[in-house]
Amino acid sequence: MTANKDSKIGLGESHLGFLGDKKDEMIVVEMKHASISLRKANLEYYTNDTPSMSDADYDVLKRHYEKLELNFPHLKLKNSPINEIGGPLSEGFSKIEHNVRMLSLGNAFNSKDVKDFDDRIRKYLNLGPTEIVEYTAEPKIDGLSLSVMYEYGELVYAATRGDGVIGENVTNNARVIDSIPKVLVGAPDKLEVRGEIYMTHEDFHQLNIKSAEDKKRLFSNPRNAAAGSLRQLDCEITKQRPLKFIAYAWGALSSSIGETQFTSIQTMKNLGFKVNPLTFNCASTEELLVHYNLIEQKRATLGYDIDGVVYKVNNLSFQERLGFRSTTPRWAIAHKFAAELAWTWLEAIEIQVGRTGALSPVARLKPVTVGGVVVSNATLHNEDYIAGWDSQGNALREGQDIRIGDWVQVYRAGDVIPKIANVDLSKRGVGSVVYDFPKNCPVCGSIAVRDLGDAVRRCGSGITCPAQKIERLKHFVGRSAFDIEGLGGKQIESFFNDDLLSIEGPSDIFTLRKRDEQNAIKLQDRDGWGKKSAEKLFDAIDISRTISLGRLIFSLGIRQVGEQASNLLANHYKTWQKFFEEMITTEEASSTSWEDVNSIDGVGPVMADSLVGTFRNPSQVKAIQNLVSHLSIQDAEPHLGLESPIFGKTLVFTGTLERMSRAEAKATAERMGAKVSGSVSSKTDILIAGLEAGSKAKKAINLGIKVIDEDAWAELIEVK
Ligand code: IVH
Repeated sequence: MTANKDSKIGLGESHLGFLGDKKDEMIVVEMKHASISLRKANLEYYTNDTPSMSDADYDVLKRHYEKLELNFPHLKLKNSPINEIGGPLSEGFSKIEHNVRMLSLGNAFNSKDVKDFDDRIRKYLNLGPTEIVEYTAEPKIDGLSLSVMYEYGELVYAATRGDGVIGENVTNNARVIDSIPKVLVGAPDKLEVRGEIYMTHEDFHQLNIKSAEDKKRLFSNPRNAAAGSLRQLDCEITKQRPLKFIAYAWGALSSSIGETQFTSIQTMKNLGFKVNPLTFNCASTEELLVHYNLIEQKRATLGYDIDGVVYKVNNLSFQERLGFRSTTPRWAIAHKFAAELAWTWLEAIEIQVGRTGALSPVARLKPVTVGGVVVSNATLHNEDYIAGWDSQGNALREGQDIRIGDWVQVYRAGDVIPKIANVDLSKRGVGSVVYDFPKNCPVCGSIAVRDLGDAVRRCGSGITCPAQKIERLKHFVGRSAFDIEGLGGKQIESFFNDDLLSIEGPSDIFTLRKRDEQNAIKLQDRDGWGKKSAEKLFDAIDISRTISLGRLIFSLGIRQVGEQASNLLANHYKTWQKFFEEMITTEEASSTSWEDVNSIDGVGPVMADSLVGTFRNPSQVKAIQNLVSHLSIQDAEPHLGLESPIFGKTLVFTGTLERMSRAEAKATAERMGAKVSGSVSSKTDILIAGLEAGSKAKKAINLGIKVIDEDAWAELIEVK
């Protein structure tokens, strides 16, 4: 989403009360805003197969919009996006008008929504609470719907949903998909079968491996891969793609294929269609919920993506009486899975060693889609967390430990690293053993120790451990540190492992050009490098030699000294010289310089101790001095103080900024006394949305946070 000038404010409902006369106007702006975002998401999802918004965010935004329509019906937009299905049609295919409209499904998000659905149906049909209404429950496959028309047993055409009324003619492509029968025996003269085209996880994975080998664009998830593969103008390409089709509904019919939903699906199966074996017949909402849980439990082992369970009234004469609303049937609903939770197997626990030597356990999972993203790793925090304790010594998960081979619940929210939320003990194997957290560094083998009161176990070999060296180098070139273009984590790893390049510490990066000129390394002759790219890298390294004091302090990767603290230190000491002198002369808890560093608002004794410890270590001081000899360090600029309009505010930047780099925008904000954060929360004051801003902007709007575009940002920082 791109914020524009007249949509600077995102409204949460709680903010509406005090707005007085401006209220209606602002709600309309908000509705337009949400409607533009929903339409853009529809276009990306349905027409271009390139969604930039997660399904979970889409649902949040859609609900937000629906709530606004509900609360302010007099402000309803003429062309509400809620009444549209699918996206605009693409140019490439000829069009087919559907005999029977292809509809969307209403959503239920919890058991109350399901009960309400049942109540509505009973009321509509005038049935009492004791009368039985049967439903089918089946997985909602996350693919794209297709309608295939058969006349006298022959496939005559196939069409995508399109906008629900007119779809794209993909007949030639449908003909090359194995699971779509080309002829039917014993079918009604006219039969339109509807179902989902999808790709399995395994096929998706193999396709991406092949695309990578062929240097082609990778697909971001199985749904996009399926959509992109079906909607090929050349059916030879579709033929090579492993698409599958599962039938779950029908359109036009010349004669009945069953009395119930369930038996009709059976008929389709008998005609040769694949139908979902997880289709159940349920006699009550309680039974629906049981099957919902069962299907959710099976989600990770199905081998294809599903995002909920579809409930349909079983009795077809009831379906007919119930009919449709504008875009959804009254007789069916999609009960969505909680966007951020999914169950899967914990296949292994791997220990990563960080730049400060911390041993961090990482869960390797059987891949599972959580909120639209395939998750195969999750953090396990530390050994206490695995054992079932939090940092205060309280029981987590009722004290249950986590073991390799467990059936675990994965939690993912926004950009946060996925976590393991729970364990299902009923699925624990008899031979499972308590996880024995390593007591030695898995990389260098040194003993790993836990300080008293510290939840983290650390490799004790300090800066000589190769894992720590690599991680420190990665931190050094990171976005908030030296941010050298073309030198990211991947390159650092390959440089570190290349003996000839001999990159042991940060200062070695700055001698690369010279060593190359002396023919010692010849970067251009290495795999993946050429004359141009090597030269470009050397130039980028040269540019990075000029660095602000705050960034330099942060780049040193001193434990406890994060970005914010580095800037505080820089603003306090102003010059590198002063900072360095103070640090090397400071003695713990005695000298005035110790008091001085502790007097900085935001620096406590733990951080001070860590700083002083670093500068008391002769080999570290030598390495730092060596590094500094290659640099030109900019003194800290004075804060603008209270006259700055963003002083003390927390900002988040998202999307592409066109006038300045993200790094410059951030530095400017910090110089003006603002804190810059990477994620949106209730603490965010302003979100600056550049081009193609995605989920962060949506989240900010939903939280009622002020959203401004780049022009407004430029105006804001131009202090008069
Ligand atoms: S029934 C009139 N059943 O979900 C009802 N849809 O949000 C037609 N979908 O367009 C749909 N699995 O692409 C139905 N078992 C299932 C489904 C399913 C996936 C998709 C389908 C539909 C969308 C609605």
